[in-house]
Amino acid sequence: MVETDTFIDEAVAEIEAAIGDANAVIALSGGVDSSVAATLAHRAIGDRLTPVYVDTGLMRKGETDEIRETFSFMDSLRVIEAQDRFFERLAGVTDPEEKRHVIGEGFIAEFEDVAREVDADYLVQGTIYPDRIESEGNIKSHHNVGGLPEVVDFEGIVEPVRDLYKDEVREVARALGLEEVVSERMPFPGPGLAVRVVGEVTPEKAAVAREACHVVEEELEEYEPWQAFGAVLGKATGVKGDNRVHGWVVAVRAVESRDGMTARAQEIDWGTLQRIQSRITGENENVARVVYDVTHKPPATIEYE
Ligand code: XMP
Repeated sequence: MVETDTFIDEAVAEIEAAIGDANAVIALSGGVDSSVAATLAHRAIGDRLTPVYVDTGLMRKGETDEIRETFSFMDSLRVIEAQDRFFERLAGVTDPEEKRHVIGEGFIAEFEDVAREVDADYLVQGTIYPDRIESEGNIKSHHNVGGLPEVVDFEGIVEPVRDLYKDEVREVARALGLEEVVSERMPFPGPGLAVRVVGEVTPEKAAVAREACHVVEEELEEYEPWQAFGAVLGKATGVKGDNRVHGWVVAVRAVESRDGMTARAQEIDWGTLQRIQSRITGENENVARVVYDVTHKPPATIEYE
């Protein structure tokens, strides 16, 4: 475990040394990793850091408002409404790695605009240790690791939390005084809801996944899962009122883990599962059924794509 105060002092000094008098940008995702990286970088270089939050249309419910609030102390915060552009790019894309690629490219495009505008030479990223291991092992391409450096013409990349595990990042977040909603937030994948929608990502499927994730997070709070969410698998037949409908199948997943590299499906009581089912099917007339995923990692992954 890291000694947080020492870590913070050293990280701030390292960022100052790396960036000097130049300007930097960082992508905020709403997650704890990028929030910590941004806060450290802001301590180091103040408003010469431009935090960029891109609303891809694949974010958690209420995320954009929370970001504005949490980082209201950073005058340089940019919120970019890019939902339409992302859905356009994702139209017809069904392969999971292709999705990550398309989203990664979308991010680059949005960033380049801001980076150019604010004359940024450096990119700060919230990459953590398990992200690097998985990317190196090529288990999948993390869009926040692969891709960006080669394409964007930055003088350097600064990754202040690159050697930390998730639980260590949370400790640093607490020590930095970030709100609980940030420090205790469960991990959310870089490509967002796109990896919780099997097949093509459409605004409708993303909306179903977003609402399901919200319900699952709320209902399972007391279980303190490492990660819990709802995912859209496809369509199946159901009955609503007097009619047979062809509606969405939502998978509920809750796992215990330390770093996401392995995970155990969590045991959830029947009453809680039924409440989740009833809320998800009740709130959306296009959802026909809800299933619970009992598979550990391995052999499954945590996300669906
Ligand atoms: P999997 O699904 O591979 O997920 O078992 C392990 C952890 O990584 C997150 N994840 C991602 N994070 N970019 C990210 O930044 C990605 O492309 C990505 N895919 C999965 C996932 O949420 C889990 O915490």
